[in-house]
Amino acid sequence: MSVDAADSSWVSPQATVRIEFEEGIAWLYLNRPDKRNAMNPTLNQEMILALELLEGDDRAAVVVLTGAGSSWSAGMDLKEYFREVDESPAHVEVKARRDSAEWQWRRLIHFPKPTIAMVNGWCFGGAFTPLVCCDLAIAAQDATFGLSEVNWGIPPGGLVSRALAETVSTRDALFFIMTGETFDGRRAAEMRLVNEAVPPEELRDRTKTLALKLAGMNPRVLRAAKVGFKKARLMSWDEAEDYLYAKLDQAVLGDTEGGKQQGLSQFLDQKSYRPGLGAYTREADQRP
Ligand code: COA
Repeated sequence: MSVDAADSSWVSPQATVRIEFEEGIAWLYLNRPDKRNAMNPTLNQEMILALELLEGDDRAAVVVLTGAGSSWSAGMDLKEYFREVDESPAHVEVKARRDSAEWQWRRLIHFPKPTIAMVNGWCFGGAFTPLVCCDLAIAAQDATFGLSEVNWGIPPGGLVSRALAETVSTRDALFFIMTGETFDGRRAAEMRLVNEAVPPEELRDRTKTLALKLAGMNPRVLRAAKVGFKKARLMSWDEAEDYLYAKLDQAVLGDTEGGKQQGLSQFLDQKSYRPGLGAYTREADQRP
């Protein structure tokens, strides 16, 4: 897929996904505002395309996943993903489910660049999967969350329950899975489903500040740090120790800016900063 690197935006062929590039940030929009950004099979396919594009695009150091209009995402599209797919041949359902998991879970959770979910409004059901699979999440205090599946007659499917188990306590997860009640951004932050909740008028600025911080950091080191955490937590201590040292060596060997040398030299030799209190100043490659 080719895009003009001079463009500051990109819209997918069916316009269900939109990207705006700004200062190293890719604002990635679920773009069906009239349908509250419900995720239909087309959107799921186009999100795979969009994430593929962003992986290799230098304009995107950080990806912020958000929703166009008043909603983050109203979850899976009840008409196009459920009713219509239910009425289709089995292979259509298999593909629809595979495309859904492919971006909402697999591509996002393993995305090589930092990802932030910026939850600007409704967040229901299936939307919990991409929410949790982003590295970080910031919500508007008045955003509304809900595991609404039981309200329309199904248990949470896909990876929703797995995603919840990754982030919130069993008590909180089962309460909201079983009652179908809603909760707001403040409660989401208390439950640690999101990192923080901010007043809606501050949501974009706060997210941008965080995104710019990450965009200014050593990308190879950030990648190794987040991948290392996500993989090691599923390993035994023995395996994790070996894997994380291998990851560390891989990151340092492949680091084209020699971050470790710069960081150590600026602290130990130049005494120009304190690593405990902030990051080193990125300069040209300092490796011997
Ligand atoms: N699937 C399909 N269509 C959806 C949808 C979904 N998950 N969520 C919203 N829409 C559609 C509505 O059918 C409506 O379409 P129409 O204009 O063609 O009639 C449009 O989006 C606007 O929805 P509306 O309900 O009028 O908006 P609202 O702002 O008053 O309410 C919600 C927003 C999200 C509270 C409400 O739409 C809702 O409950 N959606 C279902 C959420 C859900 O249970 N998701 C779980 C999926 S696993």
